[in-house]
Amino acid sequence: MELTREEEGILGGGEGETRRRMMELLVGLGKVFGASRLIPVASAQVSGASYKTIGRWGLAWLESLDAEVTVPTILNPVGMDRERWREAGIPPGFAENQEKVLEVYRRLGVRLECTCTPYEILPTRFGEHLAWAESSAVAYANSVIGARTNREGGPGALAAAIIGKTPCYGLHLDRERAPHLIIRVEGFSRGGTRPDHYGALGFIAGKLAGNRIPYFRGIMPVPDELKAMGAAMAASGAVALFHVEGVTPEAGRWQPETGPLESYIITSAEVRDLLKGMEVEAVAMGCPHCSAEELAGIARLLRGKRVRKPLFVFTSRWVLDRNRPLVDGIEASGARVYADTCMVVSPMMEGYSSVMVDSGKAYAYVPSLCGAMVRIGTREECVAEATRGFGG
Ligand code: F3S
Repeated sequence: MELTREEEGILGGGEGETRRRMMELLVGLGKVFGASRLIPVASAQVSGASYKTIGRWGLAWLESLDAEVTVPTILNPVGMDRERWREAGIPPGFAENQEKVLEVYRRLGVRLECTCTPYEILPTRFGEHLAWAESSAVAYANSVIGARTNREGGPGALAAAIIGKTPCYGLHLDRERAPHLIIRVEGFSRGGTRPDHYGALGFIAGKLAGNRIPYFRGIMPVPDELKAMGAAMAASGAVALFHVEGVTPEAGRWQPETGPLESYIITSAEVRDLLKGMEVEAVAMGCPHCSAEELAGIARLLRGKRVRKPLFVFTSRWVLDRNRPLVDGIEASGARVYADTCMVVSPMMEGYSSVMVDSGKAYAYVPSLCGAMVRIGTREECVAEATRGFGG
């Protein structure tokens, strides 16, 4: 791997031990994946921020670092709402450790925005190179914005944040962004009213695609639907980039033909099959974190109603602070809107044995990471489940 004189200097320890270790990590990654050089990144998003997922060894590793990030860097969701953790039932010992993790990141110069939707906060442009870790954000950045990032591990993203560079391989390269398979979707509406469930579609598509790049035909999703689809595909498979004909910015570069490429059909009936009923104890929405439009949709559905079982909505503090009236509207129903955290990385959902979600990603992760049975439904069905019996 070719390094500049400055990069060699960092590797030699001329800029301190932490920068040397971070450079060593990047060069190691680059060698494993066949990168020829390092490239500058516009921003970084670091996972490994929830104490639930990193534990005391992760915290000890972070505490050993002594350097500052050199590009705008934010965090993945942490294990609790930083302002309302007590009412969410988070144990004080957990909260104390979570604050220690955040304190280390603050010392490293990371902005304490904790969200899986970094594109709401970090201005991100087509063609820019990034070092983002959260799988759903990676899928969104690559597919919907046309920026370029591999799915970084937590330490790799932090190393890139500190050095300001990442190894140039994988999705940073033009030739690695071509589709590998075609998925034709049948029976979804193309505009107009939208009963279609893009999270459930993504869940099915991710199982077909694995870690390949799918090219979709037959759908016209809006950005929040692309977000839901990408998050689900990244969870049920390992999709980091997908194209949608006539919708995503790089789809026009490829006119893939069936024959050379494997081709699959997913029907709306298959997607509906996934949405089958089951009695649940709680409902959780906002995976990935809700946009303002999604909060508005939930507030509309809850207007004039009271929830009969716990309904949790997750968003970023950035979006929450800018949409207080919507949050108040949702909470007037008895539902709760939490920021900084989510249903999967927080311990707060562990007290329930069954949960309903509107997200294909949460559908994939809640059973293993929260130990609860899970049901998936549309946003409307989730609100109906939480308010069932109200007014009767
Ligand atoms: Fe975000 Fe948590 Fe879902 S990190 S994508 S809300 S599992």
